[in-house]
Amino acid sequence: MKKAIIVGASSGIGEEMAKQLSERGYQLGLMARRIELLNNLNDELGGNHVVMQMDLQDFNDAENKMKAMISELKDVEIIILNSGIGTEEYQLDWKYQKQVIDVNVSGFVLMSTVAMDYFLKRERGQIVGISSIAAHISSGLALTYCASKAFVSSYLNGLRSRARRSKLPITITTIEPGFVDTPMVKSEVPWMAPVGKAVSQMVQGIENLKQHIYITKRVRWVAWFIKIIPNWLIRRFI
Ligand SMILES: NC(=O)c1ccc[n+]([C@@H]2O[C@H](COP(=O)([O-])OP(=O)(O)OC[C@H]3O[C@@H](n4cnc5c(N)ncnc54)[C@H](OP(=O)(O)O)[C@@H]3O)[C@@H](O)[C@H]2O)c1
Repeated sequence: MKKAIIVGASSGIGEEMAKQLSERGYQLGLMARRIELLNNLNDELGGNHVVMQMDLQDFNDAENKMKAMISELKDVEIIILNSGIGTEEYQLDWKYQKQVIDVNVSGFVLMSTVAMDYFLKRERGQIVGISSIAAHISSGLALTYCASKAFVSSYLNGLRSRARRSKLPITITTIEPGFVDTPMVKSEVPWMAPVGKAVSQMVQGIENLKQHIYITKRVRWVAWFIKIIPNWLIRRFI
């Protein structure tokens, strides 16, 4: 039985990922702060999974919990780093910005480091990082979130180089979604993908050991378009 850990499994993309991977026969490690949601999800999925509460802002505890989850599940093939926060920044607020950096950047690096150490010792595995198309944009209304996702995409590129140098079959998968219909998106936005469709494309890409997945597929063209538009023009709109 294949085993996978999902960090941020309590809602949205992570919850749907748990449902779709469970359907495909995976045993899962489900992690997030809201333990009651994780327990409900585990019950819904048949109760075969391991649930652990973890707050990425508590770095020491998060590191210990990830190590404990790996030891409890044993022989984990995939670690999915999905947790993330972000909303509109109408004012620059350091308290909010620090939270975003703690969860999306520091927590992400910490979890990637534990996962990479584990897969190097195990001599194979896959790290999946949920970044965003926001990695390619820098919007005045979500600048900390966009910057955090640029960090995530760049860091995953670096991890991929290290994995390659190790000559071990370790896959680093970067996922860059556009808007997906989850509790994170609170306003009307264009091109919102249903979470079921988005996650089904993610799971397909993960199982095919893809290195880079845009969600949905047409978001690849958005990324390409952003690259060719002059920066001064983008600044007029976002
Ligand atoms: N929805 C979109 O349009 C979209 C687009 C591009 C990328 N993404 C990315 O996709 C990922 C999932 O987002 P979503 O849309 O599914 O949003 P969501 O429904 O709000 O889910 C966010 C997940 O992150 C977890 N999380 C937040 N703070 C945490 C913390 N301190 N410690 C541990 N876990 C924490 C949450 O669990 P708890 O609150 O229970 O801890 C929850 O499971 C994020 O990285 C997001 O940036 C989303």
